[in-house]
Amino acid sequence: MSDHVIVTDDGPIRTVRMNRPDKKNALTAAMYDAMAIALEKASTDDGIRCLVIAGAPGAFSAGNDLTEFALAAVSGEGLGTPVIRFLHALARSERPIVVAVQGLAVGVGTTMLLHCDHVVASADARFSTPFVNLGLVPEAGSSMLAPRLMGHRRAFELLVMGRPLDAAAALGCGLVNAVVPPGDVAAHAMKAAHEIAALPAEAVAISRRLMRGSPDDTVARIDEEVRLFRERLRSAEAKTAFDAFLKRKR
Ligand code: COA
Repeated sequence: MSDHVIVTDDGPIRTVRMNRPDKKNALTAAMYDAMAIALEKASTDDGIRCLVIAGAPGAFSAGNDLTEFALAAVSGEGLGTPVIRFLHALARSERPIVVAVQGLAVGVGTTMLLHCDHVVASADARFSTPFVNLGLVPEAGSSMLAPRLMGHRRAFELLVMGRPLDAAAALGCGLVNAVVPPGDVAAHAMKAAHEIAALPAEAVAISRRLMRGSPDDTVARIDEEVRLFRERLRSAEAKTAFDAFLKRKR
């Protein structure tokens, strides 16, 4: 288990918290693995009726760790097994997922929300997916799920043009359910999770399955994106973008 992910069970609710505040919760392979395991185990644990995904205060997530992207580009590995395992676990989750977003949600910090059932955001939340600016392509099934949620043109603006959404815009396009003051996000998310957990579990599961359709379609799109993402990671466009970010730190 990564120390950068804290998993806690409170009765029927499992909270999975990204906890790497010094790096704005940028996600490493170890973090993806820990999050995947927490989701997979919840799907087979009858005691867990709802999941909550949250970040350490200050940022929800700065997306994939760019140092690991740069290494994956050199090794040719592409998105590693832990990332893919996490994305599959999200798409195949048998439990409803509530998310508490406070602050920045970049890359997979935004695209993971497309798999979730209820999203509470702070008024200062900001959602961005700079994949194309990094020479990459959208991931996590977002090339299919975002146009379905918000229509092609708004999804294009977000995923391809890389224009960020503030909390009000995210609410307007259905990416989030509620916008609350930053200090209230956790409480609102827990309230929604308790509300879901108190419902008849089988009826929730069947309804959710009907509404979401087969996860196989989503997983197939994730895998197609993974294949293209791997090619893009090795592109000159991506190399230039990663170098610029890493040099910025020196
Ligand atoms: N991967 C690795 N490290 C990251 C990171 C990422 N995705 N995002 C932030 N960090 C690190 C920074 O390098 C910095 O580390 P340092 O203190 O050791 O130098 C630390 O987190 C704080 O980030 P900083 O850039 O100083 O904070 P900020 O508030 O000025 O900016 C961001 C925050 C998220 C806007 C900015 O860090 C950024 O653009 N990150 C890259 C986001 C990204 O492209 N993600 C991939 C999407 S596919």
